[in-house]
Amino acid sequence: MADKILVCVAWPYANGSLHVGQIAGAYLPGDIFARFHRLIGDDVLMVSGSDEHGTPITVRAEQEGRSPREITDHYHPEFLETWKRLGISFDIFTRTGTDNHQEVVHDLFLRLLDKGHISVATMQAPYCPHCRRFLPDRYVEGTCPHCGYTGARGDQCDTCGRPLNAIDLIEPRCRFCGRRPEIRETEHFFFQLPHFEDELKSWIADKSHWRPTVLNPTRGFLDQGLQPRPVSRDIGWGVPLPVAGYTDKRIYVWFEACIGYLSASIEWAKAQGKPDLWKEWWQGPNHTYYFIGKDNTFFHTIMWPAMLMAYGGLNLPHDVPANEYLNLEGAKISTSRNWAIWVPEMLERYDPDPLRYMLAVNMPETRDADFTWEEFVRRNNEELVATWGNLVHRTLTFATRNFDGRVPVGRTGVTDAVEARAAVAFSTVGDLLSRCEFKHSLREIMALAQYGNRLLDERAPWREIHEDREAAAETMYGLLNLINGLKTLTYPFLPFSAETLHGLLGYTDTLLEHGWKLERLPPGTPLPMPTPLFAKIEAV
Ligand code: MF3
Ligand code: ZN
Repeated sequence: MADKILVCVAWPYANGSLHVGQIAGAYLPGDIFARFHRLIGDDVLMVSGSDEHGTPITVRAEQEGRSPREITDHYHPEFLETWKRLGISFDIFTRTGTDNHQEVVHDLFLRLLDKGHISVATMQAPYCPHCRRFLPDRYVEGTCPHCGYTGARGDQCDTCGRPLNAIDLIEPRCRFCGRRPEIRETEHFFFQLPHFEDELKSWIADKSHWRPTVLNPTRGFLDQGLQPRPVSRDIGWGVPLPVAGYTDKRIYVWFEACIGYLSASIEWAKAQGKPDLWKEWWQGPNHTYYFIGKDNTFFHTIMWPAMLMAYGGLNLPHDVPANEYLNLEGAKISTSRNWAIWVPEMLERYDPDPLRYMLAVNMPETRDADFTWEEFVRRNNEELVATWGNLVHRTLTFATRNFDGRVPVGRTGVTDAVEARAAVAFSTVGDLLSRCEFKHSLREIMALAQYGNRLLDERAPWREIHEDREAAAETMYGLLNLINGLKTLTYPFLPFSAETLHGLLGYTDTLLEHGWKLERLPPGTPLPMPTPLFAKIEAV
């Protein structure tokens, strides 16, 4: 029976181009996972969208002298183009500015208010008398009270990763004028996180399959005790509060963006003409996965689960395989310091699969990883071109030249051996991918390609063909079947080259229709003229 797999991927702020760190952190692992599950026959719903609200957008708009809407209208289509060119296969990639999103957010907010899990209280907030405005989270900077980092923002400290309240910053500064804000009273809506402390604790009790890098901080948040969190802001941009008398305030961006996973699923179902279809992924057997970067952990393992508990009747995350950071040439990627590789620019220069390969083989799954140009070139040339691409090209050119451009007919001894070896790979890689162990999966796949190269060298069909044509045919049939299996194994990682290879093996349909298994090529199938799958990259 096909499982319903819900693949939720973090919503990128639509305030700048995507960089390779975001791809390695969330989009690529989410895509590999979704493609794998589609291949094994599951029903995947992969959702995300542009995060259009909050101070990251308004700060950027103010810097550029444009409106927040102009900013997000620029980047949302650019994101869609990036997904297409990079092969990130969302079923829906929407945005938080839609009417549908607002309706779903209001429904959730009002239900929580009604149940007493959201309540109004007066709070003290930083107010800049010079700028004559309240300063929400990111508009206040100062020293982190936990670790002493002097560049902490009012929402969280990038050095120790802890969520903060702006008024707890030591030596606070207004981000517009640099002056010290004063503290004034303002009314806000508070989500009563403490109502869910016990439930969250018992919920994570059986999460031994979570990565320690996710489970440990989550336990830490719970051990420290949860505080009510304000979920409204004195800001003019965002989802309005659905409560009379408060319509000049907006819902806090994190509270509202997390609801996007649900609203996007609902929007997708409506677009299918089956408005209730989303429920198949949100109710019933739970296969819900959230692909995020580690700085989003609190919101996905504490805040959003508590919101779902408060709402009731919807699946909680089953796994949250958050990744660590990808650095660039040894230094932290920083968009403000322009230390990043922008994906649209990268895709102007290189094919998507070499980039996907580099980011997968080097994925920051268990610890931070580093992107270097030197390694990108080396891995492309030595691994993609020399190991995998070369196996494919040697096999296809020899087979087409010596067997009338067709899959040879004959003995299946080598194929039997190949099948035994490949069966192990299919089961090992399948298990690893189900557990979101992407790097390890890719190592197993490349080991199978190396086995193919050894087999080719040992059997030496270029010699066999002169002595025993049947033996050469047997070798080539085995190798063709092996690369056919590797085509399927590489597909979640390298979908473009896998699809090309599918055509080079004489198929006229799509790879996905054949599922997660090694399939014997029908002997006699005509093979097109082979072209190399990958090209060498000159040192940059
Ligand atoms: N926009 C946030 C970021 O880029 C991620 C939001 S994920 C969501 O860090 F769940 F809140 F949507
Ligand atoms: Zn100011």
